[in-house]
Amino acid sequence: MAYRVALQPESFLCFPPVRSKRNARSPRVSMASSIRSSSAIKVETPKKPFIPHEDFLPDCSSEAFYDEVKELRERSKEIPDDYFVCLVGDMVTEEALPTYQTMLNTLDGIRDETGASLTSWAIWTRAWTAEENRHGDLLNKYLYLSGRVDMKQIEKTIQYLIGSGMDPRTENNPYLGFIYTSFQERATFISHGNTARLAKERGDLKLAQICGIIASDEKRHETAYTKIVEKLFEIDPDDTVIAFADMMKKKISMPAHLMYDGRDDNLFEHFSAVAQRLGVYTAKDYADILEFLVTRWKVGDLTGLSEKGNKAQDFICNLAPRIRRLEERAHGRAKKAPTVPFSWIFDREVQQ
Ligand SMILES: [Fe+2]
Ligand SMILES: [Fe+2]
Repeated sequence: MAYRVALQPESFLCFPPVRSKRNARSPRVSMASSIRSSSAIKVETPKKPFIPHEDFLPDCSSEAFYDEVKELRERSKEIPDDYFVCLVGDMVTEEALPTYQTMLNTLDGIRDETGASLTSWAIWTRAWTAEENRHGDLLNKYLYLSGRVDMKQIEKTIQYLIGSGMDPRTENNPYLGFIYTSFQERATFISHGNTARLAKERGDLKLAQICGIIASDEKRHETAYTKIVEKLFEIDPDDTVIAFADMMKKKISMPAHLMYDGRDDNLFEHFSAVAQRLGVYTAKDYADILEFLVTRWKVGDLTGLSEKGNKAQDFICNLAPRIRRLEERAHGRAKKAPTVPFSWIFDREVQQ
């Protein structure tokens, strides 16, 4: 049986996409050419899209700029180094955005064929990229103004990371691709939410707002991608549950797992260990996200699956408890980790 997914992904975005006069009608596109349906997906958009320089950064055209920067630097003095390691790691991850747009454009049936294509998928991907772009912009400018971090080393890391790319093993398949992005958007929502909470606990309310507004963008993106996968479960449950199991067997790789600063060959592991210790993003979060998605997509309730689909369903539904057990065992065996220097903070040592 053939289906057709007709989605209006641009309705997830803050900014209404620019419409060409050549095509004022919302285009409806088929996905993976074998899927048919006709419902549109809507999510709430915020009342006012945020502009980093207008809402969260000192205004560089104002007389008050120097005082505002001074104030920002006073506040950031109270923030410990390990927090900055997490914030820089998050910022570097955001700054490798060209890699993520490229990844979306590898997916069959949804890629932007011309670079300015008017299909809904292409419009969505470009507007999503525009929203994501302000995350790296905002964090980068904040960190630069704080004076607490080595921007030369950070810029090097970003260049290396974009140069390295990533392979999320989604194999040009939009089923795998949207399961991956659902997972990753929730992971970034959690991570930015935690840096917001920690900034607040350390008394920097402005920084808490910055991380919080980025987290709220990620939440909307999570909603969009999980709705797309929800639709796939509705119209093609067998292939979707098999794709979900396939993605989880491969493990969801973190977008910045190839990060390098020209010095530390294990930079990503070291950054991840600090994020784990501070509770910014942890192994428990990985299991929690999986569990959330299993519930969100009602994977346990699927019926009428093929034998392969049933096996995939069993695998998925039992995976989060297994990850938790392994994690608890590893935690029990863990010894106190050494400190490691991070070039991002002028080689100061941070506890792993
Ligand atoms: Fe982001
Ligand atoms: Fe996002």
